Amino acid sequence: MTSRIDGPLKVTGQARYGLDHNFPGMLHGYVITSTIANGEIVAMDVTAAKSAPGVVAVYSPFDPLTLRKPNSPVLGETWVPLQDRDVAYYGQPIGFVVAQTYEQARDAAMLVEVSYDERPARTSLQANLDLAEDGPPAMDGAPPTHTVLAPGVASIEEALAASPVVVEGTYSTAAQNHAAMEPHSAVAVWDDDGLTIYSGNQGASFQQADMAAALEVEASSVHTVNPFVGGAFGGKGSTSTPAFLAAAASRVLGRPVKAALSREQVFTATANRAETLQEIALGADRDGTLIAVRHDSWCSAATDLSFVEQTSHATSKEWYRTPNLAVSQKVVPLNIPRTTFMRAPGEAPGSFALESAMDELAAALDMDPIELRLRNGSIGPVGSDLQWSSKYLEDCYRIGAERFGWAHRSATGREDGDWLVGMGMATAMFPALRFPATTEITLRSDDTAVISVGGADPGTGLLTVMALIGAESLDIAPERITPRLGLSAYPPGGLSGGSTATASVGSAIMIAASAVIDDLQAMASAPGAPFAGQDVTYADGRVLGGGRSMTFGELLIALGRVSISASGSSAPGEELTKHSFSSFGAQFCEVRVHRWTREARVSRMLGVFDAGRIINEKAARSQLMGGMIWGVSAALHEGLEIEENGRLANGDLAGYLLPVNADIPEADVHFVQHPDTLHNPVGARGVGEIGTVGMAAAVANAVYNATGIRVRHTPITIEDLL
Ligand code: MOS
Repeated sequence: MTSRIDGPLKVTGQARYGLDHNFPGMLHGYVITSTIANGEIVAMDVTAAKSAPGVVAVYSPFDPLTLRKPNSPVLGETWVPLQDRDVAYYGQPIGFVVAQTYEQARDAAMLVEVSYDERPARTSLQANLDLAEDGPPAMDGAPPTHTVLAPGVASIEEALAASPVVVEGTYSTAAQNHAAMEPHSAVAVWDDDGLTIYSGNQGASFQQADMAAALEVEASSVHTVNPFVGGAFGGKGSTSTPAFLAAAASRVLGRPVKAALSREQVFTATANRAETLQEIALGADRDGTLIAVRHDSWCSAATDLSFVEQTSHATSKEWYRTPNLAVSQKVVPLNIPRTTFMRAPGEAPGSFALESAMDELAAALDMDPIELRLRNGSIGPVGSDLQWSSKYLEDCYRIGAERFGWAHRSATGREDGDWLVGMGMATAMFPALRFPATTEITLRSDDTAVISVGGADPGTGLLTVMALIGAESLDIAPERITPRLGLSAYPPGGLSGGSTATASVGSAIMIAASAVIDDLQAMASAPGAPFAGQDVTYADGRVLGGGRSMTFGELLIALGRVSISASGSSAPGEELTKHSFSSFGAQFCEVRVHRWTREARVSRMLGVFDAGRIINEKAARSQLMGGMIWGVSAALHEGLEIEENGRLANGDLAGYLLPVNADIPEADVHFVQHPDTLHNPVGARGVGEIGTVGMAAAVANAVYNATGIRVRHTPITIEDLL
């Protein structure tokens, strides 16, 4: 239970986020966005804008800043603005005004006259399914369609037809925006040493690579500095438009440039979670044993089909044992803002469909929903020979049921005055991944240690996790450790995305710690050193030998050293050929639907998670609670609404419905802790994403239990329950 060590800096306003940096002579940029959703820019009249007070430059596709598309092996290609005249969605960045002040830049932007050759916009997923194409392969290389059939079974249809009980349903989930507190923004400064960029991101080395590729300079000439990130959730994985434009303009103008998106622009000029449509068919024996699972998905995508929301892939990778499985994943190109990763990409919307369908199957079988899931527990992904490294999902169900009072659930809910009360549950799974990471540890003569990694802490608590794993590895108190992250000058630390950071960075810290301890011991017993010729050991921050001991600081002083440093790297390896890796959980919620107003309120929720070892229970609980709240939000509140012309009808925090405190009850989070050292030496599998998986289905299942009304889309509104 450790409070986050950067907490006081954050709550007292001392933490300096990207936008908090100011420099002499700094200019301010404002992004111009399109007011059509499909077409071509014919002309941009910037005459009035250029002569407006304080304006220094106006960039457009007719007078662009040169930028190349970065292509990252992990995140794919990143779109860069102003390189052509095509408009693919309403709110697309199409210009950049740079002025002495932000207000001057914004005012001048309003004076730019844009002429378009407009084409009809395609914005509806449902209405454009005929445009569907196979999506790009999943991040793990999985193809867009995937079928596993038992011997002698010719097709998934045959397996379904042979199933005594079949449920089929079409589900849909709304598009969502990450809406991180810190809007996408950047401050760019060039000097003899190259570019320094202050811009929220999910990995310093990733942003460094993006900027270097976009600007066609060496990575060593790009310095990213960003120890604090005001929320990311996947939405800051790829480098943002303000960073590209500020850096390119600053290079041309020879002055620092600051640029930030307005809150409305964050909804269109970054990227959102795709809308999905999913068809599921589950075939089972009368005892609930699954015989066949079919999951076909369509997701909205930008016109370049750059990103696929992997809802069906999730079903094939994880979840339930079945002899027959067929999944397909299609993308539909639309004139909508770009789509990207959002917390639990794939699994969050995918689990809404699958876990709702499992609830429907339980109802069709007149079986307890937990009993049905227990009957179909997987020992590994369907069709894979590699079993889960560690799985305590059954404990999650059992403990969750006890803590939540599941035994009191009736198949038709209960009544409490004017409220119809229901309970619902769902399974949560999210694959355990990690990235290569390197850390550096410096032991100092004042008996403190510094641990450095590029990486990023977008509010997840990674900085504190570094201190805790470092303390354990160096066998000293966490207070003696100074963790540092967020600078590309530090060793590359992977991505704070995909729930990977603790496993990636923590493993590298353990290796760096053992390297620096080895070096220390070698120095201690070298000729002329305090323990010359002796066998030495290390414990409790001390070197021991010959019945004596010295702290590492005392030893360094005796050796005339200020510090010693060592690096350690860790990367996924051989374990990937031996096991499959996933985190697991069970989500529970109670919903009260008012008999007359039909409002649905979540009154209790509980998540029980098996995510391997939990490093900092306080921060992990917060992560999971946040994810669970997001799941409630997806179920009952959030959803981007696109008008026919492609404009977002609710693209700001006034119109985009988010839960407030009054919408969210106490969230109970519980862990079953089984360190998974088959996955990584730390034994932690990550808690960032799994909190949101399954929760939207648990809400929908509770709504069904309370009312008998099955809603197969998100968000569930009053109109659905009339
Ligand atoms: Mo993760 S999609 O970077 O929250």
